Amino acid sequence: MASIITAVILLLLTSSKHVTAQVDPTFAASHSCNATCQAYTDTGLAFEASQHATANDPFYTVSSNFTSDSQPGTILSIEAVTNLTNYTVPSGLTMSRFQYTTTNLNGTAIPASAYVLWPYTPYTPKNSNSTKIPMVAWAHGTTGSGALCAPSNYQALQYNFIVPFPLALAGFAVVAPDYAGLGVSHFANGTRIPHAWVSSPSQANDLANAVLAARSAFPSLSQDFVVMGHSQGGAASYAYAQRQAHSPVSGYLGTISIGSLSTPIKQVEAAFVNPLDTSLQTSFSYQDMLIAAVTADYPAYNYSGFTDLGLKRWQILMEYGGCLPTSSLLFADVNLVTMIGKPGWYQDSTVQTWAARISGGGKPLVGPLLVIAGEDDKAVPLETVEAAFNASSALAANANQSMELAVYQGLDHFPTIDGSHAKWMDWIKARFDGEVITSKELHTSTFIQGPRLAGTKQSTLPNWLVQLPGPLDVWKTAL
Ligand SMILES: *[C@@H]1O[C@H](CO)[C@@H](O)[C@H](O)[C@H]1NC(C)=O
Ligand SMILES: *[C@@H]1O[C@H](CO)[C@@H](O)[C@H](O)[C@H]1NC(C)=O
Ligand SMILES: *[C@@H]1O[C@H](CO)[C@@H](O)[C@H](O)[C@H]1NC(C)=O
Ligand SMILES: *[C@@H]1O[C@H](CO)[C@@H](O)[C@H](O)[C@H]1NC(C)=O
Ligand SMILES: *[C@@H]1O[C@H](CO)[C@@H](O)[C@H](O)[C@H]1NC(C)=O
Ligand SMILES: *[C@@H]1O[C@H](CO)[C@@H](O)[C@H](O)[C@H]1NC(C)=O
Ligand SMILES: *[C@@H]1O[C@H](CO)[C@@H](O)[C@H](O)[C@H]1NC(C)=O
Ligand SMILES: *[C@@H]1O[C@H](CO)[C@@H](O)[C@H](O)[C@H]1NC(C)=O
Ligand SMILES: *[C@@H]1O[C@H](CO)[C@@H](O)[C@H](O)[C@H]1NC(C)=O
Ligand SMILES: *[C@@H]1O[C@H](CO)[C@@H](O)[C@H](O)[C@H]1NC(C)=O
Repeated sequence: MASIITAVILLLLTSSKHVTAQVDPTFAASHSCNATCQAYTDTGLAFEASQHATANDPFYTVSSNFTSDSQPGTILSIEAVTNLTNYTVPSGLTMSRFQYTTTNLNGTAIPASAYVLWPYTPYTPKNSNSTKIPMVAWAHGTTGSGALCAPSNYQALQYNFIVPFPLALAGFAVVAPDYAGLGVSHFANGTRIPHAWVSSPSQANDLANAVLAARSAFPSLSQDFVVMGHSQGGAASYAYAQRQAHSPVSGYLGTISIGSLSTPIKQVEAAFVNPLDTSLQTSFSYQDMLIAAVTADYPAYNYSGFTDLGLKRWQILMEYGGCLPTSSLLFADVNLVTMIGKPGWYQDSTVQTWAARISGGGKPLVGPLLVIAGEDDKAVPLETVEAAFNASSALAANANQSMELAVYQGLDHFPTIDGSHAKWMDWIKARFDGEVITSKELHTSTFIQGPRLAGTKQSTLPNWLVQLPGPLDVWKTAL
């Protein structure tokens, strides 16, 4: 009790919070960011830093045994037991992190990081005596494109009680790559490893290679695995089902893709055609990440879609490794419709070539595939998910692959995951239980009603954060 009271007094004495300047004023000024812009950016960076597990964590320095000849899917370094002091991971669960070799869109070897969230006790599949821990490969949604945007260094692992915590609490080991460029951000020679945002076949490589590396590092993991992802990760998991058709990984049991952002360039085009359509406006805010992603995969494109202002602001974000929260503050004074990209930048032939290469749908895939969508998703319009699903199911090569589309009435981007929680959790268990999907059930589409929808809290972004108490406000956890 005494220590709680002391902490309260200390808290009162120290409660005025100052944001320490982080952005170098000269650098900012030379990058079209005035004092107001700098203060906003500092606020964003300070908030993000407060949500990271560890500052300047040496874990993300590229392992010395990475070479350009490293085999994809091999382990580079292992942190067998992560110190959870600075994470809000539920008790009972434990964590590991590792570095491994993955490949970019062209198949070139690059290093990346991942975490494993371990259950206290494993789920035991029906009809199985296996003591191995069943594995779910989790593809995260967008964190940003900066060096500090690795979910494995977020105190709540980004999706917290929305996905990884409940999976591990249900007995699954969650193997979750930080996509290449997020976390392990530089080669040993100092060259930046760019993140190719929504380059979904690249992120599918990260999933496949993380599964292979995790299995070699941790023999307690099952060979079998289910792939699951949301948003950028929904596109990554969809791309994984397509990758499985040409580069299969053994033990694959199926894929869940939620709110898949699989045709982002088409969405930007549609937004410019109908700039007042509120269901499309999110597209304006991610033009910067798209222009940078095309450059990551096609370096000769060299950011040429950016306006001068757009490029300079992007350079600030990358210099400081900022993520989505900082990005929205850094661009707060910028008209996203007119000031980020040059008019018609998305019609450039390199951009269109890239778009065709990364788009989901209309390619052979291996099921079973469960596609989940929210009827009122403001980040990924339902029509785009349906169009990709229809294009996949119309493909003769997919005729015998189980594909299910489940649409949730009235739900936005993040609520769709919670609304469908029971559905995807049961689906994962059914795959490990060896439940067979009969040929009569191939290619189904269902609409799920929400009888109490009117009272639901909606959000295009994750609608709450799990925060660690600071050393002086541990007393708050007695509530
Ligand atoms: C910075 O620029 C914005 C417009 O982009 C303007 O509203 C603001 O007043 C400027 N702040 C300073 C301190 O000059
Ligand atoms: C936890 O964070 C504190 C500062 O916020 C840092 O000093 C400490 O090293 C971190 N611990 C671990 C295990 O990362
Ligand atoms: C890199 O070194 C780690 C030990 O630090 C080892 O486990 C791993 O197999 C090595 N990987 C390669 C590709 O040499
Ligand atoms: C975890 O890190 C904290 C410092 O942040 C340290 O006090 C503690 O001893 C570490 N725990 C283990 C098990 O190493
Ligand atoms: C599990 O073990 C029991 C007892 O050893 C055995 O009867 C049963 O066939 C095994 N089941 C499977 C699926 O291997
Ligand atoms: C740095 O290393 C990477 C990976 O080995 C290589 O692709 C790149 O060309 C190197 N950059 C320079 C400037 O040497
Ligand atoms: C990938 O390959 C294309 C040619 O297909 C090339 O234009 C591009 O520069 C390559 N990207 C990288 C990152 O090397
Ligand atoms: C990209 O364009 C900038 C000018 O905006 C130029 O300085 C740089 O050399 C170009 N880089 C490449 C790889 O073409
Ligand atoms: C997808 O196919 C269904 C069933 O044929 C149809 O009702 C729906 O309009 C299609 N959606 C799109 C976006 O093509
Ligand atoms: C689907 O399976 C049936 C029965 O096994 C087979 O006859 C048919 O050729 C298959 N179709 C495709 C497109 O693979």
